[in-house]
Amino acid sequence: MTDRVASHYSENHKLADVIAETLRSAGTDLKTLATADLATIDEFHIRGRKATLELAAQMNLNASSHVLDIGSGLGGPARTAAETHGCRVTGIDLTQAFCDAATAMSDWVGLGKLTSFKQGDATKLPFADKHFDAAMTIHVAMNIAAKDKMYAEARRVVKPGGIFAVYDVLQGEGGDVLYPVPWAREPSISHVATPADMKSLLTGAGFTIRDIQDSTDESQSFFEKLTAQMAKTGSPPVMWRLFLGDDFPVMAHNQVRNVTERRIRTVSYICAA
Ligand SMILES: C[S@@+](CC[C@H](N)C(=O)[O-])C[C@H]1O[C@@H](n2cnc3c(N)ncnc32)[C@H](O)[C@@H]1O
Repeated sequence: MTDRVASHYSENHKLADVIAETLRSAGTDLKTLATADLATIDEFHIRGRKATLELAAQMNLNASSHVLDIGSGLGGPARTAAETHGCRVTGIDLTQAFCDAATAMSDWVGLGKLTSFKQGDATKLPFADKHFDAAMTIHVAMNIAAKDKMYAEARRVVKPGGIFAVYDVLQGEGGDVLYPVPWAREPSISHVATPADMKSLLTGAGFTIRDIQDSTDESQSFFEKLTAQMAKTGSPPVMWRLFLGDDFPVMAHNQVRNVTERRIRTVSYICAA
């Protein structure tokens, strides 16, 4: 199961080279690159960098915080949090190619000392109890059936009182998800929880939920703009296609329907350990 999830995301073990080449051919100078310049590639979730900035702003972060990013992908959220709040961020992700690319991309923007990325499974975190001041996870749990284990692990590694911030895609009330979507080409690796499931999973893991924000309306505008741009230019403005391949335009169109028909919702939870 975890192998199928990792190969869904990337079988390209030279992803950093491909991203660098794509940026260079678009006229970008890697020497003067800023974190925000990478956002169309490395903020791999609905509403992009804006969503990460909003989430990180609620996590009580400062220069002495050490944060865990669970399912860190290409490292965009980790770099955004580190750059904005001066904190250290350790990312863990199932997909080795993403961890390697995330490490390279942090070096490109001078954040190699504040961020690090390690391959691993969210349901078996390789860290000691109470190791982190805070943790976040963005658009990851849709690939994880054993969410109880994932959230129990998050609770175990965060210090008492620390914030666990979750931003995820949930099952909406409008019907089954239409596939393919960016996290799964077909349902066997997709495990979307309902809003009711999320409340009991998070409280069941021992977290106190402090705030819940539903951003589905904004997510709908995000995909409408994306597909309108694709129709105008004939190609996706985001470079997620580099690792999702030629299925990406169909995935984006399905997401417009999924979100418009409320087959999915996007919801954030701010929890205290
Ligand atoms: C849609 S991407 C989101 C990446 C990143 N959080 C972001 O928002 O840019 C989902 C990520 O979850 C990772 N993932 C899925 N299942 C996982 C698991 N069991 N443990 C760790 N990472 C996992 C995938 O490898 C992928 O990088």
